[in-house]
Amino acid sequence: MASVSVDEAMRHAIALAARGLGTTSPNPLVGCVLLDAAGEIVGEGFHAYAGGPHAEIVALAQAGKRARGGTAVVTLEPRDHTGRTGPCSHALIAAGVARVVVAVPDPNPIASGGAATLRAAGIEVEIGVRVGEAEAGNIAWLTSMRRGWPYVIWKYAATLDGRSAAADGTSMWITSEAARIDVHALRGTVDAVIAGVGTVLADDPRLTARNLRDGTLAIRQPLRVVVDSSGRTPADARVRDGAARTWIATATEVGAGPDGRVDLPALLAELHHRGVRAALLEGGPRLAGAFLAAGLVDKVVGYVAPKLLGAGPTALLDAGVTTIADVIDLELTDVTQVGPDLRITALPRKREA
Ligand SMILES: NC(=O)c1ccc[n+]([C@@H]2O[C@H](COP(=O)([O-])OP(=O)(O)OC[C@H]3O[C@@H](n4cnc5c(N)ncnc54)[C@H](OP(=O)(O)O)[C@@H]3O)[C@@H](O)[C@H]2O)c1
Repeated sequence: MASVSVDEAMRHAIALAARGLGTTSPNPLVGCVLLDAAGEIVGEGFHAYAGGPHAEIVALAQAGKRARGGTAVVTLEPRDHTGRTGPCSHALIAAGVARVVVAVPDPNPIASGGAATLRAAGIEVEIGVRVGEAEAGNIAWLTSMRRGWPYVIWKYAATLDGRSAAADGTSMWITSEAARIDVHALRGTVDAVIAGVGTVLADDPRLTARNLRDGTLAIRQPLRVVVDSSGRTPADARVRDGAARTWIATATEVGAGPDGRVDLPALLAELHHRGVRAALLEGGPRLAGAFLAAGLVDKVVGYVAPKLLGAGPTALLDAGVTTIADVIDLELTDVTQVGPDLRITALPRKREA
């Protein structure tokens, strides 16, 4: 096999890491490629599920003795603590690798220190290779670890004129089946789906990740969270069925904000405590407005149908903007056609303090 550069190996490791999306949480996505002394790939692996072997361990097992004197190329700094599995830094030392190349340092104070341990054992460590790409691939986990609350993606569906339903309340589905299938795939990548009690009362959604054609549930279901200040969720609401775990988050349990409603930062802190790293905020417009007004949305995914209603509720209500100077400015990062609809992905730009 031809030798590859460390840069190429890192690109491959980042692609490997992405294969764990949706199953590794609350752990990060990690990929690892092992090169022998001649630069040939002798092992590769990714962290596939929480509690399973880490990427480095999978790659080392493949490489066996060929790891000795070689280079481990890892998307995230190897862990230095013993959780459910042993420290990867020790496994790399035991395997006799000569060099470890890392993209992103571990922000987790419990697990960091791997690079120092490796250096103390005489291993050359380089950090920062393809760091931007690796950060982007692991953005939800990294963001949530750095600040202590989940990465929040607000997803909505609307007509081209921004309506979420017809004036008489009909039109439960604004977007196509293809777009809804895409949403279920998105649900499969997050740890929690959040909705306001208004949506539960109006639509009685299931909020599960499932196959829309035959109703089969995905193996891993996100936690369903209903933001419900005074516990108005009906006893027979679909979110209370046994298909997935559900948390009816009331103001009594979470704490109340100044308006007496569920305190949203406290809600997110509690979700982080429960292991939620990425959350999908599915509305409705009132709750989404409150999240945006508080600066708690990290990413917006809008499904826009080429339809016009001219009247009816809008996809977003009060987001704390009354004048154009306060507009929530977004940076478009992707526009993809999904069936007849558009999926628009955008990131809120940081606002001046
Ligand atoms: N187009 C879309 O993508 C989309 C998605 C979802 C829903 N919808 C539509 O939206 C409609 C429901 O809208 P909605 O605005 O009434 O419902 P909502 O945003 O789902 O829920 C709003 C309710 O959440 C509760 N809440 C608790 N804490 C809050 C906080 N800190 N800030 C704001 N709200 C808080 C409030 O009730 P309490 O104070 O009683 O807790 C509030 O009335 C439905 O017709 C549904 O079809 C559209």
